[in-house]
Amino acid sequence: MTATNLYRIRPAEKSDARAMNSIESEAFPDLERPTKFRRELQRNDVVYLVATRPWTKEERDAARRGERSNNRQPATADLVGRAQHSLEGLMFQALGLIGKNLPAEHVGGFQGIWFALDTAHLTVIASRPDERRKGIGELLLMAAVELAMHRTSRTVTLEVRASNEAARALYRKYAFQDVGVRKRYYSGGEDAIIMTTPPIWSKDYIAHFSLLTRKFEARWGESHRVLI
Ligand SMILES: CC(C)(COP(=O)(O)OP(=O)(O)OC[C@H]1O[C@@H](n2cnc3c(N)ncnc32)[C@H](O)[C@@H]1OP(=O)(O)O)[C@@H](O)C(=O)NCCC(=O)NCCS
Repeated sequence: MTATNLYRIRPAEKSDARAMNSIESEAFPDLERPTKFRRELQRNDVVYLVATRPWTKEERDAARRGERSNNRQPATADLVGRAQHSLEGLMFQALGLIGKNLPAEHVGGFQGIWFALDTAHLTVIASRPDERRKGIGELLLMAAVELAMHRTSRTVTLEVRASNEAARALYRKYAFQDVGVRKRYYSGGEDAIIMTTPPIWSKDYIAHFSLLTRKFEARWGESHRVLI
């Protein structure tokens, strides 16, 4: 029997916005302004998907004890910090309210896909630094391609920092090719490489994609991907 992947994909909800901001700030430390995800989530032309898993017992216990676990929710953490040494804190702990402030699931990564004409643009993709190399980035990218197929996009395209070897390797794995350069596109003057898939409905691409998804599931377990 094939194992089940711990992470699943689903469309982002408003309640994920804070986790998305914490992932964004860790993944893109140079970002000038955090993205207003609550507003972004209302757009019709952009889809945000999150990779989530259940909280572990250790994480729940840590949140209850008031430790900063990797939910990294400032409001909860502040509340926990302040409450710890107060009578109020004891009351919260007795009532289990601190634990209840945890969101329903842990968000390990997210991505945004902007649909314009016949092209799906991957606008952002990121996994938490302490959860990298566990298949989250690949699971998200697979879901992006599947969603693009579902929307009958012709290709998937993106821009990536020339020095971002991890991301470029991930994209190359999914047959994205370098098709152009935007000179000094990023802060610090770094070039952006434009990478695009071949037509995703071509026989060759479908064969390549199916092989990759089969390999992925053999390695990380069967994954549940809800795209719409
Ligand atoms: C790029 C990123 C999303 C990859 O996420 P991840 O969860 O670590 O990715 P996965 O574990 O699913 O790895 C999938 C593939 O990506 C490539 N990859 C990921 N990390 C890599 C690394 N450090 N070095 C080389 N290749 C890497 C490999 O091809 C890997 O496949 P493999 O396991 O068969 O070798 C993650 O590094 C990240 O969030 N970076 C910061 C944000 C960012 O730069 N986003 C891209 C903006 S364009």
